[in-house]
Amino acid sequence: MPRGLFITLEGLDGSGKTTQIKRLAAWMGKRGLPVVQTRQPGGTATGDRIREILLDARSGALAPMAEMALMFADRAQAIAEVILPALDSGKIVLCDRFTDSTEAYQGGGRELGSDAVLALHRLICGDLQPDLTLLLLPSFAASLSRARRRNHRFEEQTGKNEGRFEEEQDAFFLRVWQKYREIAAREPERVVLIEGDLTIDDVHEQIVEAVAERLVLADQSA
Ligand code: TMP
Repeated sequence: MPRGLFITLEGLDGSGKTTQIKRLAAWMGKRGLPVVQTRQPGGTATGDRIREILLDARSGALAPMAEMALMFADRAQAIAEVILPALDSGKIVLCDRFTDSTEAYQGGGRELGSDAVLALHRLICGDLQPDLTLLLLPSFAASLSRARRRNHRFEEQTGKNEGRFEEEQDAFFLRVWQKYREIAAREPERVVLIEGDLTIDDVHEQIVEAVAERLVLADQSA
């Protein structure tokens, strides 16, 4: 059975990933492509429980190493339960965030460094690499204000504050932003960088172009 295609979406909070992943899944669905959509943290029953701990503002005192370990615990479960079975049966996996997020947020934002993240990735994730990563980087200010507005709305509606990350200072997000750019520069073959304050349609168009290219490549090597 041919291996499927593993596509990840990355970006700062408020970068529009969630909207874009939905549109991409719909685009694939219309073409009859077999898609499995998931997200990290979350996407499995265990992962959803880990996600709650990670995002809850009451977990404020979580040590950076504990935070990173939980991200990898969630990922190990998702790989075993969702990602590898789907890839092994030839499906396309669309994953909202993967190890690049850990490198950007824990490696960059929390200053744990790339080496620690990449070493854990090799050990825990068997160094599984996406075939394509779409990195959305609209302007820093636009991303952050959108993420914080959304979190306030969610808190007003549900009484829950899931904004442990959104409550970080701008300096934290600047380090995340820089680390994402570093990853894109290091791995230009895998990472397609979509920058600037583009319309939703324009971003979708660029995403579809990059994905279509990979689908042709995958088809040729099958
Ligand atoms: P989401 O809102 O895009 O689902 O992401 C949840 C938050 O978790 C977001 O602020 C980024 C953060 N995160 C990390 O810090 N490290 C990781 O490895 C992942 C997957 C997410």
